[in-house]
Parts: sequence; structure tokens; C-alpha cells
Amino acid sequence: MADEETVTELTTDKAPVKARGLEGVIALESALSSIDGDKGRLIYRGYDINDLAEHTTYEEVVYLLRNGDLPTQDELDDFTAHLRSERALPSPVLDLLRNAPDDAHPMAVLRTAVSALGLYDDEADAMEERANHRKADRILAQIPTIIAAFDRLRKGKNPVEPLDRGSMAHNFLYMLNGEEPGEAAEKTFDVCLVLHADHGLNASTFTSRVIGSTLSDMYSAVSGAIGALKGRLHGGANQEVMRMLLEIDEIGADPAEYVQERLAEKERIMGFGHRVYNTMDPRAAILRGMVKELSEEAGEMKWYEYTASILNTMQEETGIAPNVDFFSGPTYYQLGLDPDLFTTIFALSRSAGWTAHLLEQWADNRLIRPRAQYVGARDRTVTPIEER
Ligand code: SDX
Repeated sequence: MADEETVTELTTDKAPVKARGLEGVIALESALSSIDGDKGRLIYRGYDINDLAEHTTYEEVVYLLRNGDLPTQDELDDFTAHLRSERALPSPVLDLLRNAPDDAHPMAVLRTAVSALGLYDDEADAMEERANHRKADRILAQIPTIIAAFDRLRKGKNPVEPLDRGSMAHNFLYMLNGEEPGEAAEKTFDVCLVLHADHGLNASTFTSRVIGSTLSDMYSAVSGAIGALKGRLHGGANQEVMRMLLEIDEIGADPAEYVQERLAEKERIMGFGHRVYNTMDPRAAILRGMVKELSEEAGEMKWYEYTASILNTMQEETGIAPNVDFFSGPTYYQLGLDPDLFTTIFALSRSAGWTAHLLEQWADNRLIRPRAQYVGARDRTVTPIEER
């Protein structure tokens, strides 16, 4: 078997694909979601994201990704009842959140707490399919509780016990704010969860599948995925978008000039560009409408106007389209969420995709192990240390 050193000398018809950042490389087959980067289309298990956003709830999408079909009412009732029964945290994990530094980034706390969940799950290392489904349910049900509890603790408030009723969106907003959300806020938040649930082999999903492909456990794989999502080139971009909008507002800058100045400095404008989409991310189009609606309801149009100005400027100056993060930031901000929580909301939703991908990986597993082209030194001999 050729090792890395000889990869450059393999015959051309067997030469492996070499693509920086694995751009365009097909690493595996998946039936979960597909992105058409040229048409700006996203489907989950054959359903268009616009259809799902308008006609399903997040729990229906979780069931769809996991099982391949949308649930009947009875199947949904059973599934959501089970998820609700798993919302409470093991008390040692709640203690971990109490002891976490108040100024720790919520994504670092989430990564740590999800890893800790594995210490208190008797099935953590079980690899039977049903055990992995049960673990997926626990992880999905407990991530919202972790996020809400830490946010309240860092603000000097007591965590709020999860409800034994209501949707994941309803319960999360209730645990976060200590009061039941209105229907509009719950629906808006639920659509955001639908939009972020899965997205092909993005960096955090790929991370989860690489970890899963070694036959490591679900807690290790989801903790790793959270670590990958945290980065500003991936899920961390939504917080950066809001930081940009808040800075523009604070200094009273003209959004177009602000962006032109940063482009002139060769800076990346967060929330724009994508490895796969060559046109508008369909999720961004849906979220853009939500930013407008929330702005109109609040009677405060500035965040929507800033995004419109930046969108036009980026179109004129670069032709680069916005991605999901450009509009998820102002959406969450107008729902009253703190910007440093935005990426944890992304993780809350994407835990559906990560766990569904892990189940798919384990159904037909092969170790994921790409190659590196060796470009280092060769043919060196060791000089005795006393002569070095
Ligand atoms: C997500 O993969 C997924 O599916 C991810 C995601 C999901 O649902 O899981 O969709 C969620 O992560 C969305 C992306 C969020 N990240 C950002 O918004 C960060 C800003 N965007 C980028 O840094 C960039 O667009 C990436 C990282 C998203 C994609 O980078 P690529 O594919 O490696 O492209 P590149 O860095 O090679 O850029 C190509 C050109 C470069 O110009 P040149 O240097 O060749 O002249 O486009 C330019 C870049 O400078 N460019 C940008 C830009 N993004 C690309 N220029 C300014 N601002 C930007 N945002």
C-alpha cells in the first residue's frame, strides 16, 4: 500500500484527488440533504427547504432526517413526548455549568457540557442502533437546557426547569427568558431551527463523521462537531455579523462605506460567501424576510436597512452572495438573544444533522482517512547529538 511519501508518484490514472480544503471532493454518499450551489436549492430527504420551512416544525424535520420520512401525527406525538422526557440535565452537568466561568464563550461551555453528558450516560459507548437513537434524542433534548441554564447562571439568575410540554422552540425560549414566548416568536424560532438542521458535508458534520468513522462514540463526535462549528468561518459567523451591524450602528457609519473600507483592506465580510453556493443561500432568502417582518413588528427598521445596504454593496463590489449567517444574526438579535449565543442556536439545530449523519455513517461505516501530499525534506541521515 503506497504511503503519503509516494502519493506524488502514483500513476496518473490512480492519482488521488488533491484539492485544498477538500473543495469539490466527494468523500461519501449521503441520503440526508443535498445542496445545488448553482440553483441555490437545499433539500432534506427530497423535500425543498422552502416547503419544510413553511409546512413543518423542527421536530418533524428531526424525525425526517433520522428516519427518512415525515412522521404521522401519532409518530410525531410519540417522538416529541420522548424528547420532552429527556430535557432535564444530569445534576453533575448542571453543577459544571454553575462552576463554568461567567465570561466563557457559550460555545466552549456547550462543547464541554455535551462531552460531560457522556460521563453520565450508561449507554455512552453502546453502538447498537437503538442505543444510538436514544443517545441522539438525549443530546438533542439536553442541548437547549445547557444553553439556557448557562446563560441564566452567567447573569446571576437561577436556571429554569424545562417544561414537560411544548415544542423545543417554545421550551427553549421559556427556559432562557423565564416566561412563555408568544406564538410569533416561537414560530420564528422554530423556522430558524428548521433552516439550520442539516446542510450536506459542512465542516462540523464532516468532523462528526470522521470521529464516528473510527467507531468512537456519539458524545465524542458531537463534541467535536461543536468545536468545528465554533469557528468564525463556519457557525461563528452569525455572531460576527451582528458585531459588525452593532459597530456600524454605534459609530454611525454608512454601511456601504464601512464594507467598502473593509474590502479595500482585503477583510472578509462575515455572512457572505460559501464553499458550495454560487448564488443566494435559500436559507438566507427566507431569513431576510423574517428580519424584515421582525423589524416592521418592532417599528425599528435599521437592522434590516443595514443588511440591505451591505447586500447591495457586496453585490456591486464583489458579486459574492450572502449565506445563512448574514440574516440569522439580526433575526436572533431581534428575538432578544445575546450575540454570543447565536452559534449555540446553530448547534442546537444542527445537532439533528450531526446525529442523523452519525447513524448513516454507522449503517455502512468505513474509516475516513484521506491522504496528504508530502512536501517535506527527504533522504536525511541522523547526526549524533554531540555533533549537531
Ligand atoms: C456556514 O459549508 C456549509 O454548508 C456551511 C454552512 C452550514 O449550513 O453548515 O452553510 C454554514 O458556515 C456558512 C459560512 C459562514 N462563514 C462566513 O460567512 C465567513 C465569511 N465567508 C468566508 O470566509 C468564505 O466565503 C467561506 C469560508 C464561507 C468559504 O470560503 P472558500 O470556499 O474557501 O472560499 P475562499 O476563501 O477561497 O474565497 C474565494 C474568494 C477569495 O478571493 P481571492 O482571495 O481568491 O481574491 O472569494 C473571496 C476570497 O477573498 N471571499 C470573500 C468572502 N468570502 C470569499 N471576500 C470577502 N468577504 C467574504 N465573506
